[in-house]
Amino acid sequence: MTDRNPDAMPPRLTPAQLRSARWFAPDDLRSSSHRSRAMQMGYGPEDWAGKPVIAIVNTWSDINPCHGHFKQRVEDVKRGVLQAGGFPLELPALSLAEVFVKPTTMLYRNLLAMETEELLRSHPVDGAVLMGGCDKTTPGLLMGAISMGLPCIYLPAGPMLRGHVAGQTLGSGSDAWKFWDERRAGQLTDAQWLAIEGGIARSPGTCMTMGTAATMMALAETLGLALPGASSIPAVDAHHPRMAAACGRRIVDMVWEGLTPDKLLSRASFHNAIAAAMALGCSTNAIIHLVALSRRAGAHCAIGLDDFDAASRRVPVLANIRPSGSQYLMQDFYEAGGLPALLQRLAPHLDLSAATVTGRSLGDNIAGARVVNDDVIRPLDRPLYAEGALAVLRGNIAPGGAVIKPSACAPQYLQHTGPALVFDDYPALKAAVDDPDLDVTADHILVLRNAGPKGGPGMPEWGMLPIPTKLVKQGVRDMLRLSDARMSGTSYGACILHCAPEAFIGGPLALVRTGDRITVDVPARRIHLEVSDAELAARRAAWVPPPPRYERGYGWMAAQHILQADAGCDFDYLETGFGAPVPEPDI
Ligand code: FES
Ligand code: MG
Repeated sequence: MTDRNPDAMPPRLTPAQLRSARWFAPDDLRSSSHRSRAMQMGYGPEDWAGKPVIAIVNTWSDINPCHGHFKQRVEDVKRGVLQAGGFPLELPALSLAEVFVKPTTMLYRNLLAMETEELLRSHPVDGAVLMGGCDKTTPGLLMGAISMGLPCIYLPAGPMLRGHVAGQTLGSGSDAWKFWDERRAGQLTDAQWLAIEGGIARSPGTCMTMGTAATMMALAETLGLALPGASSIPAVDAHHPRMAAACGRRIVDMVWEGLTPDKLLSRASFHNAIAAAMALGCSTNAIIHLVALSRRAGAHCAIGLDDFDAASRRVPVLANIRPSGSQYLMQDFYEAGGLPALLQRLAPHLDLSAATVTGRSLGDNIAGARVVNDDVIRPLDRPLYAEGALAVLRGNIAPGGAVIKPSACAPQYLQHTGPALVFDDYPALKAAVDDPDLDVTADHILVLRNAGPKGGPGMPEWGMLPIPTKLVKQGVRDMLRLSDARMSGTSYGACILHCAPEAFIGGPLALVRTGDRITVDVPARRIHLEVSDAELAARRAAWVPPPPRYERGYGWMAAQHILQADAGCDFDYLETGFGAPVPEPDI
């Protein structure tokens, strides 16, 4: 693993230029109280004087199993900071445990981004180590840190160990959905189900399928914001605490070097991340988060849906990891060489000159990496899928675009016309799904609406609509589904997601009626509601906006400001370019 960079430029900052020196150095009453209160905590001038103060933004909590090791790991980061002559200070932040937080962690991703930005702005810190991994924590931390602009390095939580039960490996999410269908079909006993619950998540760390967590950790590393190899190390592997200490050492040097995110991020780094996303068979959520991150990095970095679609036609899926692959998990990916090895294979599709936190280029970082298992990380000429990690569909029902993961759906649904079966909200869907008399066939397209950024609220992961039990019992395991929701990165199936603009604000999805025919043509990147423009205009005129989801509090504020899925679901006022930059605080 790359650690401190011996070739790094000589320190460009002097101790007097440290941002934290504005709090600690002056001989005035206010600074005196800062020093006095630091001494109240048991520190002395030898801790802070002339040293970079490193914020460790830790998203640990008692209810986040994916970050269960962060309480110990933060001590390893501190060790590294101290080794390099810095002053570590842990700043806890919103934990966003994916499975526990309702209605959805996505509602709160921007709150974590705001918290991160303001924690760094308001405290006497010079740089930051960002500790995250569970789905929304990675983009939340990075969005905030990019906006604040201090040197920062991201420490990924790393995946949990392989799951297993009765001699079978189990993958987070993916196998839960799969076995739940078996249970609904009456093929699993209570005892068998309990064994699956106990075996599918058996160590700290993030989901170990190629879900949103594994995808976003890998993309953070590809963007150059994490140390090489960091994102693939299983959370409980002894390499992980050593990597944590290395992050602590490196951030201190980054402060002296003035290596801020704007010096690392470029359009090239975002295009590298898109290419990596495709090769990983990424979570569909990666699109929303990368778009949001790119817009935080500034207009010169901004990417859009079409960049993903273009890359998906060019870049093959190389990572044979569930749910795109049928067998392997993140532990196998790590043991096969991890992300640096995959990026080495992907080199023809990357700009290797892109900058990274090591102070070296991406190409330098991955120079020695080698794949040691060709079945887990495929060569370019023997990919898992030649193309099609993601496709962006457009048409009269989704003028702002919609997203499908062709590599994870049954091929017969890539071109299909069928009647819509429409649900206005999730409770209506849930109530209908077990109805033995539901008028539905495998030809139908299930439609869920009012599940977008404002309507969900927060765009919940409801997009893998459950296949009606009646059909499951007939052996149906996939069918077309369309929504303005997201889906978990561990999900699979013919699910068309992120339909924009969302129904809740009057997007065309609001106008679909049960029985209308919808044509999906993935090769042509088209989705079309087979209803005349005149009829749609009449339906639009009669459309009544639903009442707001929240009338006070954070949810109300989010609804005023959240952008649509194709723009990354950030709040408008948090995007770079909204108003003048925020000045440093008066002290
Ligand atoms: Fe935390 Fe999946 S629940 S990463
Ligand atoms: Mg998830």
